[in-house]
Amino acid sequence: MNSRELLGRYFRQQAELDMPDPFIDRSLLEPLTWKRVAEASSLSRVRDASGRQHAAASAPTLPRPPEPSRKPMDLKSRLSSLRPVGDLVASSPSTAEPLRRESDGTVSNKREALKELFVAGCAKCHLAQSRRKFVFGAGNAEAPVMIIGEAPGQDEDQQGLPFVGAAGKLLTTMLAAIGLDRSQDVFITNILKCHPPGNRNPETAEILTCIPLLYRQIDIIAPRAILLLGRIAAHALLDMTESIAKMRSRVLNYNDIPVMVIYHPAALLRNAQYKRPAWEDLQQFQTLLASMDIYGSLPKK
Ligand code: URA
Repeated sequence: MNSRELLGRYFRQQAELDMPDPFIDRSLLEPLTWKRVAEASSLSRVRDASGRQHAAASAPTLPRPPEPSRKPMDLKSRLSSLRPVGDLVASSPSTAEPLRRESDGTVSNKREALKELFVAGCAKCHLAQSRRKFVFGAGNAEAPVMIIGEAPGQDEDQQGLPFVGAAGKLLTTMLAAIGLDRSQDVFITNILKCHPPGNRNPETAEILTCIPLLYRQIDIIAPRAILLLGRIAAHALLDMTESIAKMRSRVLNYNDIPVMVIYHPAALLRNAQYKRPAWEDLQQFQTLLASMDIYGSLPKK
């Protein structure tokens, strides 16, 4: 039985038995986490040159290559479905100061560059007054993969780290299910670096003010692939205004970096029906990483 069939059976059982959902309260049904499903399924284990093992989709269908870059649509228009725009104008990614590169094109000072950006902090909008902590991002500055969410929640605001609450725990499990360790293999951040009070959606003006910091982080880290969590992150970074249903399952493009969009883990906690498509999308992301030989470049455990 392949992983999809196994997962399908699992969801049917869940529905029939009206069972508690392990993603919501893992202690209730610990054995059926995504990681366990992946491990128990026919996901083959592949070994890279260094001998490290990774899960890989059993029947990889290679994803479409990144779409050619299109002329970016005005960010304000993309975000028009959100709150009204103030009079702020975001600087485009291309205006960011270029990172110092070595003669062979590599960037040897990613950690330092990120540290400088973190230390500089930000108080450009009113969220700096209401926040407890500036949530810059966390993970490996050299990671080949960036994970980008929407905005810090309450737990993140308290700890100053992204994705540490319930959605974050699910994200950790989801990443582990495709062979990614959140502290070593990825860098995780958000579109907004400060918690919007009451967990409301980010306002357009807040996104416009904050997103140059994300452009800079991407420029420094230069990830080989990006995973966007949810519609707001996707609309903010990509030249798109479609629903998640239309954006998912495709390999998109940000400045020639392949990007995939999946349902936000918080949405999965609220709506069980998104779990199956999210799992399928994660597997496609895994296939994309495998096709780019990203697993072979991960830090050794
Ligand atoms: N949701 C997000 O989008 N980001 C976080 O850091 C936590 C929850």
